[in-house]
Amino acid sequence: MSGGRPVQVRAEVLTLRPVGDYLSLTLVAPGVADDVRPGHFVALAVGGEQSSMLLRRSFSVYRATPGGRYGGTVEVVFAPHGAGTRWLAGVRPGDAVDVVGPLGRPFALPAASSGAASCLLVGGGYGAAPLVALAEQLRERRCRVDVVLGAASAGRLFGVTQVRRYASSVSVTTEDGSQGERGRVTDVLPDVMRRGGTQAVYACGPMGMLAAVTAAATRAGAVAQTAVEEAMACGIGVCMTCVLPVVGADGTTRMVRSCTEGPVFRGDRVRWADVGTVPEGTLGAPVAGGHR
Ligand SMILES: Cc1cc2nc3c(=O)[nH]c(=O)nc-3n(C[C@H](O)[C@H](O)[C@H](O)COP(=O)(O)OP(=O)(O)OC[C@H]3O[C@@H](n4cnc5c(N)ncnc54)[C@H](O)[C@@H]3O)c2cc1C
Ligand code: FES
Repeated sequence: MSGGRPVQVRAEVLTLRPVGDYLSLTLVAPGVADDVRPGHFVALAVGGEQSSMLLRRSFSVYRATPGGRYGGTVEVVFAPHGAGTRWLAGVRPGDAVDVVGPLGRPFALPAASSGAASCLLVGGGYGAAPLVALAEQLRERRCRVDVVLGAASAGRLFGVTQVRRYASSVSVTTEDGSQGERGRVTDVLPDVMRRGGTQAVYACGPMGMLAAVTAAATRAGAVAQTAVEEAMACGIGVCMTCVLPVVGADGTTRMVRSCTEGPVFRGDRVRWADVGTVPEGTLGAPVAGGHR
């Protein structure tokens, strides 16, 4: 984990409002907002105090406002999906939600000594949420910021308006063609990277998109940082639910926890095709005839 220690607070719902096909939830969560950096996430308890839904649900922080009138707020954007997010969709201002955060390792910014890098941010659906603050921070460092946002349809795009303030260019793709170019984010990436002279790519979205963005970045000679969304249970590193195979600097594959060592990983280090398995050669994996 990075920045300050995560804290657990009983947060008060300030607002819940629709944004396209999503809901944006703002919580008064003093202490949580203080050290949030782009890529951090929060884990919310769902279902109320008597709930049988024991596991917290994780959400990227879209916006964190320390201090201020309410003593610190965090905002997340989510899609009602299963039982937990459907419960969240029913909260009202004044309700209490138990929050742990900020969690995880955020996106790494280019070293100040490397000068103003040319950066490309790629978001799929609500995956754009952590990229808006990232765009702002990269812009403050005088980096060039190109953005590509994609989704299945116009209603599932997020952040298009918000990110324009910080971006040199914003490209939009939808699979049904209801906004921007018809197709996937990867269709436009080579052109955007060529025009922008991209050196660093930052991506957040579905796993298939992250794998494809990493491949496109590598082909263009850029390094990708990807925020993965592996299913989580504890969110704090104790249960191993969220592991995925990642190749270390020493060339060895390890099953790495995405909640503590991630969710942001160098894309070229993640064995995308093997996510969900313990691939052969992984440190500690069982081998025929015993342990290595
Ligand atoms: C680091 C991180 C950031 C995320 N950010 C967002 C966000 O900004 N907005 C958003 O809408 N969703 C986000 N998600 C996905 C969100 O956590 C799941 O959609 C949510 O947990 C589903 O809960 P549920 O009860 O509605 O669904 P159910 O399917 O009933 O969930 C059952 C269990 O599976 C886990 N689970 C199910 N789907 C996912 C998933 N896609 N990813 C991880 N765990 C899952 C749940 O945590 C829960 O433990 C994020 C996930 C991670 C890991
Ligand atoms: S979610 Fe439990 S270790 Fe990552």
